[in-house]
Amino acid sequence: MKGFDPAVLIEAARAAREQAYAPYSRYRVGAAVLGKSGAIYTGCNVENAVYPLGLCAERVAIAKAVSEGEREFVALAVVTENGGTPCGACRQTLREFGEEIVVLIADTSGTYRETTVADLLPDSFSAEDLGGG
Ligand code: THU
Repeated sequence: MKGFDPAVLIEAARAAREQAYAPYSRYRVGAAVLGKSGAIYTGCNVENAVYPLGLCAERVAIAKAVSEGEREFVALAVVTENGGTPCGACRQTLREFGEEIVVLIADTSGTYRETTVADLLPDSFSAEDLGGG
């Protein structure tokens, strides 16, 4: 799959955000990742009374995709009320699957900006770095 419609991916992330379980932070996040197969996998943040166990929306979406056999990604959209950007852990998780992945960072009004994993996580560590011993 080559081109994609940003509006479709952002809408999937917006809808996923409706499922956010965020009783502690009240900060609701939705994500959607487009696999090269053309399938879209969604995620929301899932918090826990043991705070550090909370899951970010982006990593939920990636885990769902990988567990369904998808390992190559075109783009990921994340939606929050204020256009918050993916956290460092989510950037590194995305990086595992490529620097060229497009990242759409949207707010609930529909405004978004487009960037890439490479731009969000420059000089990143990856599997190649493990080669040197
Ligand atoms: N959160 C995400 O889901 N993704 C991010 O990239 C940043 C933070 C969630 C985690 C937590 O449930 C809430 O937002 C506040 O940090």
